Amino acid sequence: MYSEYQHLIDLSDYPVLWWKNLIELGEKIYNNPSEYAHKCDGKIMATLFYEPSTRTQMSFQTAMIRLGGQIIGFDNPANSSVAKGETIKDTTKIVSNYADVLVIRHPIAGAAKAASLTADCSVINAGDGGHLHPTQTLTDLLTLKIEKKTLSGLTIGMCGDLINGRTVHSLCKALSRFEGNKFVFISTPELRMPVYIKDIIKANGSSFEEVNTLEEAIGGLDVLYMTRIQQERFPSEEDYLAQKNTYVLDRKKMLGAKKDMIIMHPLPRVDEITVEVDEDERAMYFKQAKYGMYVRMALIMTILEEKKFSETLKGKTYAGVRCNNPRCITNHEEYLPKSFRSSGDQTLLECEYCDERKLI
Ligand code: NCD
Repeated sequence: MYSEYQHLIDLSDYPVLWWKNLIELGEKIYNNPSEYAHKCDGKIMATLFYEPSTRTQMSFQTAMIRLGGQIIGFDNPANSSVAKGETIKDTTKIVSNYADVLVIRHPIAGAAKAASLTADCSVINAGDGGHLHPTQTLTDLLTLKIEKKTLSGLTIGMCGDLINGRTVHSLCKALSRFEGNKFVFISTPELRMPVYIKDIIKANGSSFEEVNTLEEAIGGLDVLYMTRIQQERFPSEEDYLAQKNTYVLDRKKMLGAKKDMIIMHPLPRVDEITVEVDEDERAMYFKQAKYGMYVRMALIMTILEEKKFSETLKGKTYAGVRCNNPRCITNHEEYLPKSFRSSGDQTLLECEYCDERKLI
């Protein structure tokens, strides 16, 4: 399936060079923002946020305003026709006639892809359930480029809710495309990185190890990426409470870290980094959030200027086959064409919306 608009659903849909260009442009804008103040004069961006957000939504909005454009949208679907049962298809079809670019965040995996199938303008994925968050990854890559001066040869620790954290999924897919990066996944057995992400890391030629404690990993890291336990994605309060407070980065643990290790976090923080760590010059998370605005300026400009066609669905439908993931958009919006990628022997299918695997 093709769309005549250019979308960003997953960074892997683009060559690495495209991301590098965005990051370079983001850095240029950061160094000289006034030069870009009229790049999007007369353009309108719609933000459709079906899930809470502070940084992503506001940084997108300020990015557009700083480029000279204007914004519309909702951040509480209860105040829109969504509350009356409107589908993603109808909402995006309508809003995409009002705006030049649509930024969507949704609690269900694959929702941004679903929006891109019918939107009459570009769609940007601002987080789809526990699946992906490509613009946080652009933020993270710009942070690494500025603060570590490289995107290669790094040992990156990722700590916390690795199964539900969309930021770490997107970041692993991206960083494993650069040479010499190694990952150390720090989590409880229940919250381990999904197998499909580990397979992508291996296929890209990077390596990873999995450990249970921060203490055993911290000394070897160049970057420590902390994440929040994603309470809203747990099946029950009891399951969440069993994981809460497992990992807390404090001043004492930082004594074991390299002098130039940086701490990143997509934020919001709950209790996984104590406030005393904020004073440590290696704490990069507030700066990281600021860099996000500049890289989003670069993304909006690029998508509106390039105007490329997108291939929205590349897979195949299989008669009667549905995705197994109850939190996949194809199990919530029935009209969507099911679409799967197949492995060589065609017995393992991967849902093109949420990446869930199933054997047939
Ligand atoms: C993250 C998200 O929404 O996935 N926040 C963000 O976009 N900066 C991380 C989180 O919610 O834990």
